[in-house]
Amino acid sequence: MRIGLLTGGGDCPGLNAVIRGVVRKGVDAYGDELLGFKDGWRGVLEDACEPLSIESTRGILPRGGTILGSSRTNPYKREDGLTRVRETLGRRRLDGLIAIGGEDTLGVAHRLHRDGVPVIGVPKTIDNDLGATDVTFGFDTALQVAMEAIDRLHTTAESHNRILVVEVMGRNAGWIALHAGIAGGADVILIPEIPFDIDEVCRLIRRRHERGRYFSIVVAAEGAVPKKGTIVLDAGGVDDFGHPRLGGIGHVLEREIEHRTGYETRATVLGHVQRGGTPTAFDRVLATRLGLAAVDAAHDGHWGMMTALQSTQITLVRLEDAVAEVRRVPVEEYQRYGVLFG
Ligand code: F6P
Repeated sequence: MRIGLLTGGGDCPGLNAVIRGVVRKGVDAYGDELLGFKDGWRGVLEDACEPLSIESTRGILPRGGTILGSSRTNPYKREDGLTRVRETLGRRRLDGLIAIGGEDTLGVAHRLHRDGVPVIGVPKTIDNDLGATDVTFGFDTALQVAMEAIDRLHTTAESHNRILVVEVMGRNAGWIALHAGIAGGADVILIPEIPFDIDEVCRLIRRRHERGRYFSIVVAAEGAVPKKGTIVLDAGGVDDFGHPRLGGIGHVLEREIEHRTGYETRATVLGHVQRGGTPTAFDRVLATRLGLAAVDAAHDGHWGMMTALQSTQITLVRLEDAVAEVRRVPVEEYQRYGVLFG
């Protein structure tokens, strides 16, 4: 078979492990020819690609980022997008594509499949918010980075009797904030799923002071929002998929908490540091398993499907189900941790 491969959306530790897995399996087990498209769907639209071989993908397993590059290009934003995708597949004599991405990239994959383009998806995102899979690769690495940052902030917060606000990624789902916050022993965790009450945040911090703890760690997902009418937030720009550019809630909290409690408060925005660098062992293994399974799926003709982790098994699920809705933190799960706050 001739298979095209692309990585789209925000980069994520483990992407290279998938690429390596696909190439190894494709070449060694099936005698496939593999083409890597540059910068996600942009490479398919512009027919920008390079052959991938076992030699050219050697040594990439522990490397963060993606050797193929990534972008948030949406082919359906262009009138001739679908035609160009079809033309590229025809010109390159490709039997199909393997698209590695999150909700946006796989949303496009699903639409293309419906439009008759053979595509298989592999789920990636540090946000862990894709449906139909228990977990996405990249999440474990991001969590590790965020937890280590919280551990470091803990000691300096305690030394200076400060409130430290840590803003982590997660625009629609609070998985990173919740799990890194729990792992790092945060005193307040704010997630997009549950609008926060700034008075309640300050109450928890004050209660710690009354109990003789003069510092606090507040972990906030970038998509955390205050309850309506309590704090005014600035609006930013949007990307090709219409997502607002976030980042800023950490500094809003810094200002509001200090103003309301009188305690010195500082914010740290972890930002892209959570997405960079080498993947954890868990993410390397998961990404490799998902990549190997994607090649089998292509040979079995399972177009329109996505490889997924369900319990301990790698399975195939419909792309349609994976992108149907963002997988958010259930409110009951968040509430279960309530006794640990403040
Ligand atoms: O999709 C993963 C993610 O890291 C989100 O957590 C974050 O909101 C977004 O990407 C940031 O995207 P960009 O790097 O394009 O600003």
